[in-house]
Amino acid sequence: MPIKSTQITTKDEYLSHWQMAHEVPQEFWAKAAENYEWMKPWDKVQSGDFNDLEIKWFEGASLNITANCLDRHLKTRGDKTAVIWESNDPNEAPIKYTYTELHAEVCRFSNVLKEKGIKKGDRVCFYMSMVPELLTGVLACARIGAVHSVVFGGFSAQALAGRIQDCQAKMVITCDEAYRGAKTIPLKAITDEAVESCDTIETVLVRERTGGSITYKEGRDYSLLPLIKAAKDDCPPEEMKAEDPLFILYTSGSTGKPKGLMHTTAGYMVWAGYTFENVFQMEENDTYWCTADIGWITGHSYITYGPLLNGATTIMFEGVPTYPDAGRFWDIVDKFKITHFYTAPTAIRALQACDINLVRKHDLSSLKVLGSVGEPINEEAWEWYNKEVGKERCPIVDTWWQTETGGIMITSLAGVTESIPAHATYPLPGVNPVLVDSEGKTILGNPGEGNLCMELPWPGIARTIWGDHKRYKETYFTTYPGKYFTGDGARRDDKGRYRITGRVDDVINVSGHRIGTAEVEDAINEHPAIVESAVVGYPHEIKGQGIYAYVICQPGQEETAEVLKPQLDALIMKMIGPIAKLDFILPVSGLPKTRSGKIMRRILRKIAAKDGNNLGDISTLLNPEIVEEIKKGAGL
Ligand code: PRX
Repeated sequence: MPIKSTQITTKDEYLSHWQMAHEVPQEFWAKAAENYEWMKPWDKVQSGDFNDLEIKWFEGASLNITANCLDRHLKTRGDKTAVIWESNDPNEAPIKYTYTELHAEVCRFSNVLKEKGIKKGDRVCFYMSMVPELLTGVLACARIGAVHSVVFGGFSAQALAGRIQDCQAKMVITCDEAYRGAKTIPLKAITDEAVESCDTIETVLVRERTGGSITYKEGRDYSLLPLIKAAKDDCPPEEMKAEDPLFILYTSGSTGKPKGLMHTTAGYMVWAGYTFENVFQMEENDTYWCTADIGWITGHSYITYGPLLNGATTIMFEGVPTYPDAGRFWDIVDKFKITHFYTAPTAIRALQACDINLVRKHDLSSLKVLGSVGEPINEEAWEWYNKEVGKERCPIVDTWWQTETGGIMITSLAGVTESIPAHATYPLPGVNPVLVDSEGKTILGNPGEGNLCMELPWPGIARTIWGDHKRYKETYFTTYPGKYFTGDGARRDDKGRYRITGRVDDVINVSGHRIGTAEVEDAINEHPAIVESAVVGYPHEIKGQGIYAYVICQPGQEETAEVLKPQLDALIMKMIGPIAKLDFILPVSGLPKTRSGKIMRRILRKIAAKDGNNLGDISTLLNPEIVEEIKKGAGL
């Protein structure tokens, strides 16, 4: 039977589409790809697998993703609002771009990049706050075939430098300063410090936002807005091959430095567009707001590319949920009559802890669909979101996915498949999840619980780690050979619906931000009095997980947690950024180690979670006596 459309409108359609995408993936994704404009058609829909790791989608085709985000809509939706930018300051007027205006603005920005020597394949790093030029700049890169790499504006100079060096960016685009609630962050000064150790950087463009005092380095630094204003508003989209890189985005893993996940053009486009359409189920006059930052994958796929590929109206918010007060999200929902609202559990929990009248005094009747992303949502937060925000009439899509997956993988579909508290529920068509036990044996039948893997490639999967394909293979495909290992654990209920239980590796999810324990330990170990440390996550009411550090001090240099805290946080701020600051420090005289010298983190995680009775077998430890000491120190 020929596939008529890949749009899902009923649960039966969902079930039959999942089956089709499983049985005839090439036909299914060819159909999905027909929604877009191609400069040249593909020869083969998909090739490569999780053994050869030469995954390709739409090979032979050429296209430009911005022609699909912008030009394609000009005839039918030219006057429709594409983007609304809302300032940190509620009294500053919003900025709106229609599709026609956004197209012109992106073209102008593209011409600025070209003028400053950026060519197809060059890497451009963004270190900005949520100003409109972050979105237009990312699209401008894609338009001329440059590879964007956005670094979240909360990272430190050292973290920024590491990312610039890794991808060998030629240009950084930043702001003078960022507004963040009542604070400002000196982005340009941080960039200056970072760039000192980055000899590939030729140009720094500065989007002046606060007017704060900064310095311009002659011949390297330029003010961005005047350049954009003076540029021509016409720039033809560069013809890109399907597998040409579109962007690099760094994320933390269990070990080593952050990994630059590389996404390519055609597969990512089809995946971002397809998932946005089917998960959120928007109608033409709806208004969509994802509260993420474009510095994270959520902002790439679901503020920028997904909504624009679908001709939607997308909101971009510069500020924070609690400024000027904790009712700001709801002010914005009412102000723009938001229909689709997508945020993170950590924000929900933080707002849940504030005065309920900050929500209840708002109308919120425009809302139709609510979304959650970034970490497991606990049932209490889910219920609150459903009752107080959605007034029990808005489906909640709990969307599980990762930087690596490019787009949403497991979720309910708004109003189409059922939403259940704290469950991501069903895999999208094209997503083939399996649960495996610690030996890699597949857990068959329902219900089941295990480590979450994917059996087959989907269009949006990251194709490699920039410059290190070997690490890509080792990180994702060697724990369970032939399968992509997500690093998450999950349970499957009797109906085959998934509930994600959280990371099973050494990654901590703090307020929806992925932090590698090894990175935090590296920063702590810089302290002259510290011999060794072990960092684990523990349950935290607002952040989901907090960071718990066990530290061993040099003999004779023992310090209390109170003394160490500011010193260790200063090191973390320098090497990573404020998002990795410690929540709890426990000085210890030793760490539980196996005979081969490996720290037994399982025990440390349990103690941090105040679960001292269930430590399992500790007889294989080299130093079992240390466990009692640590428990005592932790107050257990
Ligand atoms: O542990 C999962 C958690 O966030 C991780 C991915 O983080 P990152 O690459 O930064 O991307 C975040 C935004 C997609 C996952 O391995 N995670 C993400 N969404 C959910 C989730 N955990 C449970 N439920 C979710 N809906």
